[in-house]
Amino acid sequence: MEKLVEEIRHRFKPKIRPIEWRGDRLVLLDQRVLPFETRYIETKTVAEVAEAIRDMVVRGAPAIGITAAFGMVIALKEKKPKTIEEALVTLSSAREVLAKTRPTAVNLFWALNRMYNRALELAGKTSSAAELTDMLEEEAKRIFEEELDAEIRMGLYGAEMLEDGDVVLTICNAGGLATGTGLGTATAPIYVANIVGKRVSVIAPETRPWQQGARLTVYELIHNGVPTTLIADTAVGFVMYRRLVNIVMVGADRILLDGHVYNKIGTLNEAVLAHEFGIPFYVLAPTSTIDPLSKVDDVKIEERDPDEVRTARSEQGRVYVTLRDVAVLNPVFDVTPPKFITGIITERGVATQPLAKNLRRLLKS
Ligand code: MRU
Repeated sequence: MEKLVEEIRHRFKPKIRPIEWRGDRLVLLDQRVLPFETRYIETKTVAEVAEAIRDMVVRGAPAIGITAAFGMVIALKEKKPKTIEEALVTLSSAREVLAKTRPTAVNLFWALNRMYNRALELAGKTSSAAELTDMLEEEAKRIFEEELDAEIRMGLYGAEMLEDGDVVLTICNAGGLATGTGLGTATAPIYVANIVGKRVSVIAPETRPWQQGARLTVYELIHNGVPTTLIADTAVGFVMYRRLVNIVMVGADRILLDGHVYNKIGTLNEAVLAHEFGIPFYVLAPTSTIDPLSKVDDVKIEERDPDEVRTARSEQGRVYVTLRDVAVLNPVFDVTPPKFITGIITERGVATQPLAKNLRRLLKS
């Protein structure tokens, strides 16, 4: 495995850099305006980082986690605390601000806790706030590097499920844009398969209301040379009925130990339909997306601005597609019960049915 990981690391050259750390600022590719415009946003304060996550300049569970980790470093660089105690207070309030940005993707809380716990650990080892800042910067960079490593491993496990000529159905954007690395989770097996010579193509549903599929997945995959066909969300059942797809690969925002998967709204529809038509349905996520504590009804499903549904994002900006004052329900994630899932692919291996037992086993390995 290690040799293959190195080979893929060497051979995968991402064409898109959604997150770049520049020592004192985080540069983010603005996903609100893709694919029409390539614009970068610089964030140098905690408030700017929080706003970038909240307004989805950066989005996707792993990318949100990585951004929040650097947000903790930015907090220290912004405030320049003189003592360790002051540094911990700064980090604690930054954690609070960043944790309020989006509620569903667990990688956000995972990354904030990892950074804060590392600070507590380092506080016992150094009395210099400047040194603590440097070491936390290293921790954030490590989180970013570990994500790419995890994705290469998921890519290798997932590519084994793909045959030459396969068509993969996905949802939303669980690609390099959503993880910051350029490789992605659900897209990693597709890129890896193509690297090792299997021709795999993708059917991407547009993913209303924010159109992550139409705007981001299409842009990313085509940029990376993967043949991609866009469908309306409502065409998912038909493409399965006609066997136009062989397998489903999606990402996740949170996975519970019993195998419930939270992901972009519409994932549940795909999972139920795949189950009905006997099409394998795989979820790909790093173990940082596994929430070992929550139960299914504890998890908050984010509801966003009604105008996301009333409008569409076009080359001309946002345009209304309905009455401006119509009542709207806009839950942006759903939850898929374990019985509809063939397997969960992580960097530690693949958990198949029964998921509750095999996920736990995988985490212990
Ligand atoms: O609202 P978004 O765009 O942040 O939602 C993203 C998703 O639902 C992705 O599928 C998930 O975060 C996995 S990203 C590798």
